[in-house]
Amino acid sequence: MKKLIKNGVVVTAADQYEADVLIEDGKIAAIGKNFSENVDEIIDAKGAYLFPGGIDPHTHLEMPFGGTVTADDFETGTIAAAYGGTTTVIDFCLTDKGVPLKNSIQKWHDKSKDKAVIDYGFHLMVSEVNENVLNELPTIIEEDGITSFKVFMAYKNQFMADDETLFRTLLTAKEHGALVMVHAENGDVVDFLVKKALAEGNTDPIYHALTRPPEAEGEATGRAAALTGLADSQLYVVHVSCADAVEKIEAARKKGLHVYGETCPQYLVLDQSYLEKPNFEGAKYVWSPPLREKWNQDVLWNALKSGQLQTLGSDQCSFNFKGQKDLGKGDFSKIPNGGPIIEDRFSLFFSEGVKKGRISINQFVDIVSTRIAKLFGLFPQKGTIAVGSDADIVIFDPNAERTISADTHHMNVDYNAFEGMKVTGEPISVLSRGEFVIRDKAFVGNPGSGQYLKRKRFERATAATAQKVLQ
Ligand code: URP
Ligand code: ZN
Ligand code: ZN
Ligand code: ZN
Repeated sequence: MKKLIKNGVVVTAADQYEADVLIEDGKIAAIGKNFSENVDEIIDAKGAYLFPGGIDPHTHLEMPFGGTVTADDFETGTIAAAYGGTTTVIDFCLTDKGVPLKNSIQKWHDKSKDKAVIDYGFHLMVSEVNENVLNELPTIIEEDGITSFKVFMAYKNQFMADDETLFRTLLTAKEHGALVMVHAENGDVVDFLVKKALAEGNTDPIYHALTRPPEAEGEATGRAAALTGLADSQLYVVHVSCADAVEKIEAARKKGLHVYGETCPQYLVLDQSYLEKPNFEGAKYVWSPPLREKWNQDVLWNALKSGQLQTLGSDQCSFNFKGQKDLGKGDFSKIPNGGPIIEDRFSLFFSEGVKKGRISINQFVDIVSTRIAKLFGLFPQKGTIAVGSDADIVIFDPNAERTISADTHHMNVDYNAFEGMKVTGEPISVLSRGEFVIRDKAFVGNPGSGQYLKRKRFERATAATAQKVLQ
């Protein structure tokens, strides 16, 4: 099968130029002009950008959490992702203490393989380090292609790991070529503050934010960075929400440490005041770390622009307002943490970032796709439009206007965190390995067509190209 996308403007992390893109057998076969090949199909992309498909490095699909299970599974979640311009997700595989890691990975394969409509990989949660785990991790890197491990510094008595676990994970990752990811909040301090608030009768959603202060995130971020330096290892801090954490990442990077940071759309456009919405609506905006005071948004934008933060993840972790978020009525600590973001990550970032002049169009591609591919062992198969790369392409109308709403979104959840926001720019068609998943804004993909991605080992030299400041 050969397809030719004509007349579009190809945009990568480095370039922007008008060209035709020839696709053969799922790969980009040639980029140029005036092809005389016989093709099965010609797609006219006049007036549109051709972006490499977005890569979402942070999703929680069909994940048990907070006494319930996230509302979007690998089918609804990846369909919504595709509508939004994302063609690869890397999901967090949870593990249980005392159970072989292999079993947890198999569970995640069972959930995803007949459902995903785009390609996907897994990060693996590490909650304990012992002889069994140390024996298993190298095989998992080698055979399963899982080259990133997640350690939670928060969620005490649930996911939280201690510093020894984090440190030994960092050492193992260094030795075998993996990247350690942390959820950085001081779980002990947060746990104390939550209990204190509840004992004082403070039960509303806003106390979720007030009991998880920015200092708790900054402290854990700094601690993780220090341990990374001590282990001479590599660290990726997920969902950075505030100046306190950015400062710690910046300081570590100035010292030459291999520390990277991700932020999420919610921290760039929403703020703590959303948690004060009446009638328990604040619960819709409960995730961890919490939304911050508005001034933090400028700090995050500047860090993305200057390269101190490298990527944008969604932290997709959707719960319905009715039936799930309301588990926390009368006790904010029981509100399931997380929100539905997978669909709007890409176009919201284009609209707020490129259209509003905060970042360049090349930085946009770098932050939502290219750098993520480089950090997580997927480049250049994913993350760019180049000869030989997978034909994961978003045909994007930069001038289309749209209002975000739960009435029109495709996530399996009864609210949208960005309800009513107007955005400029919209994916029209989306291809995964050369096949349409979205065509003229309609879903035409097939559950089960998404392939599991075995990822390459973390390489400092590849990741370092993600440190370059592109202006
Ligand atoms: O509130 C959040 N972020 N939920 C998802 C789990 C996590 O901490 O990433
Ligand atoms: Zn063919
Ligand atoms: Zn987290
Ligand atoms: Zn998360």
